[in-house]
Amino acid sequence: MANLQDLTQHNQFALADMLTMMSEDEKNQLALDLDGINLEEVETLYNDVYVNRQVEAPAGHLADVDVEVKSDMTEERRSSLEQLGLEAIKVGRFAALLMAGGQGTRLAHPGPKGTFSFNDISLFELQAKQLLKLSAECNTTIPWFIMTSDINHDETIEFFKTYQYFNYDEKDITFFKQPNIVALSPEGQLLLNAQGRLLTAPNGNGGIYEALAATGLYQTMKKRGVDFIYLNNIDNVLVKVLDPVFCGLAVESEADVTTKTIKPLNGESVGRVIMADNKKQVMEYTELPEGMENQFDNGNIGIHIFRRDFLEEASAKALPYHLAIKNLEQLDEDFAIQKKETLKFEKFYFDIFRYADSFKTLQVDRTSEFSPLKNKEGKDSIETAHQALVDNHIL
Ligand code: UD1
Repeated sequence: MANLQDLTQHNQFALADMLTMMSEDEKNQLALDLDGINLEEVETLYNDVYVNRQVEAPAGHLADVDVEVKSDMTEERRSSLEQLGLEAIKVGRFAALLMAGGQGTRLAHPGPKGTFSFNDISLFELQAKQLLKLSAECNTTIPWFIMTSDINHDETIEFFKTYQYFNYDEKDITFFKQPNIVALSPEGQLLLNAQGRLLTAPNGNGGIYEALAATGLYQTMKKRGVDFIYLNNIDNVLVKVLDPVFCGLAVESEADVTTKTIKPLNGESVGRVIMADNKKQVMEYTELPEGMENQFDNGNIGIHIFRRDFLEEASAKALPYHLAIKNLEQLDEDFAIQKKETLKFEKFYFDIFRYADSFKTLQVDRTSEFSPLKNKEGKDSIETAHQALVDNHIL
């Protein structure tokens, strides 16, 4: 697409200046990196997501989402959903999908977040063990799809190999990478990373759908008879992967999107699950309009079941980019490595809800289902996650 001559035409003066100091080899490399980039789209992205950005409440009538509360269920209801879920898992209607492409910067753990261990049990193993136990109970195999990104793909695979895939059958695990997108200076300029290559970064967890489509994995799932995709984060140490009761609810309701929530604490850093004009939506905690911090009763814990046919169709549709400002390593105009404030562009996976027609929500108890490992210390930290694992007799 773009070539070196196009840079000034599209206001990319920083790179155009640096070009004059590059060797032929460096120029050729940059030309290759620019080949997949549409500079007009980069300008539009910069203007839409940064220059003209506005944090405003979603349009339409906002209301709390309707929920079924797990602790209010009768034993009969709980058990019949569980049976329904287990039967569907048994006949292969469920796949597990893990988002593990993030950087985990706040945790300051070297390596992919999933490799962080409590008493020698990594976050990856915590999830693998549950799936294996369920597979044995159901006398079946459960396909496990794991999204990585450029920044942690090789290390993730290496880790699984080192631990013999935690006894999971290697052929039932599929790793796939989310796409990257350019990062920009606050002035909208393309940048070079420490290796002199065009600076790009993973495009947010909402890149998951295009990645699934591009790698043909919806087809793989369909061939295996998968009707439901169970999505979760890597960092909730209490996540119940393929929780049969929750699976049963998705099977019973046949909703496009079935979501688990918790009651948020005062000002808690979780997205708020709401209904905006009868569509389920997540208002991300980083973008909550003022005054809305404590207005809604359901927090997003990153656990959802999607109908496969819904996702497959919706994956072709556009998702918006959100802004994240991070300190990223890059080359300055003298080719010295520096960390500078940089604009990152991220898609959020829950923005796909806008294309869904039917929704179901289960509100669960925080103490047994949600303890995210986000920070080294303080809130949502190594200490709080460890305590939650002990309290729930997992460690
Ligand atoms: C996320 C949710 C938030 C929710 C909270 C619960 C998003 C956008 N926000 O916030 O609504 O309340 O979890 O803990 O999801 N990831 C990728 N690729 C990326 C970025 C992230 O795979 O490019 C993965 C991470 O590895 C992780 C998950 O997505 O498994 C969540 O990402 P994270 O950055 O931890 O989101 P939070 O800010 O914690």
